[in-house]
Amino acid sequence: MEIIIKETSETTSVMAARLVARLVREKPNAVLGLATGSTPLMLYKELVRLHQEEGLDFSGITTFNLDEYIGLPRDHEQSYYTFMWKNLFSQINILPENVHIPDGMAADVPLACAEYEQAILEAGGIDLQVLGIGSDGHVGFNEPTSSFASRTRIKTLTRQTLKDNARFFNDDDSRVPHHCITMGIGTIMDAGCILMLAFGEKKAEAIASMVEGPVASVVPASILQHHARAKVFIDEAAATQLKRADYYRWVYEGKPDWQLDA
Ligand code: PGA
Repeated sequence: MEIIIKETSETTSVMAARLVARLVREKPNAVLGLATGSTPLMLYKELVRLHQEEGLDFSGITTFNLDEYIGLPRDHEQSYYTFMWKNLFSQINILPENVHIPDGMAADVPLACAEYEQAILEAGGIDLQVLGIGSDGHVGFNEPTSSFASRTRIKTLTRQTLKDNARFFNDDDSRVPHHCITMGIGTIMDAGCILMLAFGEKKAEAIASMVEGPVASVVPASILQHHARAKVFIDEAAATQLKRADYYRWVYEGKPDWQLDA
């Protein structure tokens, strides 16, 4: 795991966007795995800027989103479908047919999940997966004790996640859907490269457990210790509980030029 600590979430997001942009330029038909929530917003804003001001071309790019609430229609203001179109897709030149988001209204959820996995395979697999982390250590909506071998499936959210996400539902956690479809941990681990972002003190404990704790399904993100190409971009606030933060800074500052952005 490579840990990159920067002063602010903005600087961190711009750096992360540079990595995504490099892949998009080098592999115009790349497959991106995307995340929702507050964390990737600045990354998406920077990708929009790169498209609008520097011509970053998404016309050959395919995307797969990590998750979606069950029971929210696409046009619900809090569906991840709405989130992605509002914050990214409507502002870049991606082809709608290349966008994939789990269908939270599917009549046959297990079938929809199996088809989602198949679509990822047919697209050639995910080259780069953008991830956030829950305060309970989840990735996607793979809550604590999720199987490390899991694939796209239905999950029940923890009370902590319902509480964390209540801010999007008028601060009323009873209005947050209790179920979701999420890529599995096995699905996420198949991505060629992982780009995790985490900001703020409320993520510090989860980040420390993920990076420096044991690999255990109670901290689903800790499985990323087994990923050969996982980069973790965090701000200073999210780094406050890392015991080896100085070492990660020292490693990053000492990187030879050829290794930067690698
Ligand atoms: P957040 O969510 O970006 O809104 O903090 C992250 C997550 O739950 O994975």
